[in-house]
Amino acid sequence: MARLKVGVLISGRGSNLQALLDACAAPDFPAEIALVISNIPEVYGLERAAKAGVPTAVIRHKDYASRAEFDGAVDARLRAAGIELVCLAGFMRLLSSGFVEGWQGRMINIHPSLLPNFKGLHTHAQALAAGVKLHGCTVHHVTAALDDGPIILQAAVPVLPGDDEDSLAARVLVAEHRIYPLALRLLAGGQAVACDPAGMLIA
Ligand code: GRF
Repeated sequence: MARLKVGVLISGRGSNLQALLDACAAPDFPAEIALVISNIPEVYGLERAAKAGVPTAVIRHKDYASRAEFDGAVDARLRAAGIELVCLAGFMRLLSSGFVEGWQGRMINIHPSLLPNFKGLHTHAQALAAGVKLHGCTVHHVTAALDDGPIILQAAVPVLPGDDEDSLAARVLVAEHRIYPLALRLLAGGQAVACDPAGMLIA
């Protein structure tokens, strides 16, 4: 079975990366993580990748004069490794439109809210402030607009009395670790909604 070659972009602890690595360890999983790139050196996610025997690269955004040059370096590394699908997993950099266009239809993200609610940062604080009873997470295709691409999969969790940002984040994270590998499996196996390079759904 040919496995889809996946590159994962991270900036931190990499718990979602770990969920993807664990899923890919199953021999019948239709994707493999072939490269992990971090824009920050020495983050724990890099250790997780190394422990799983996955090649890693650190491409520091601070070493580049512009966002486009940094993105160009990331793009070149992904292409040199033959990556077919990019998974953003806690990657804390905005991507330039050129990069997004180049990978559109072949790049997905996990976002800690039930999109289209609570885009951007501090999603758990946003949910608490809004007083919602249901919160959750979303795996979606990445398009030019932030946290706006076609949705692949969502999971809902309750907001419980007494929740604070940390308790809510922890509950959502458990759901993230379930749906990111599931979404990857469905997408790599051709069973999930796909997205063409123009950001349109493919039936
Ligand atoms: C997750 O909550 C993810 O949804 C968001 O950033 C966080 C990354 O956590 N995009 P981790 O590095 O995967 O543990």
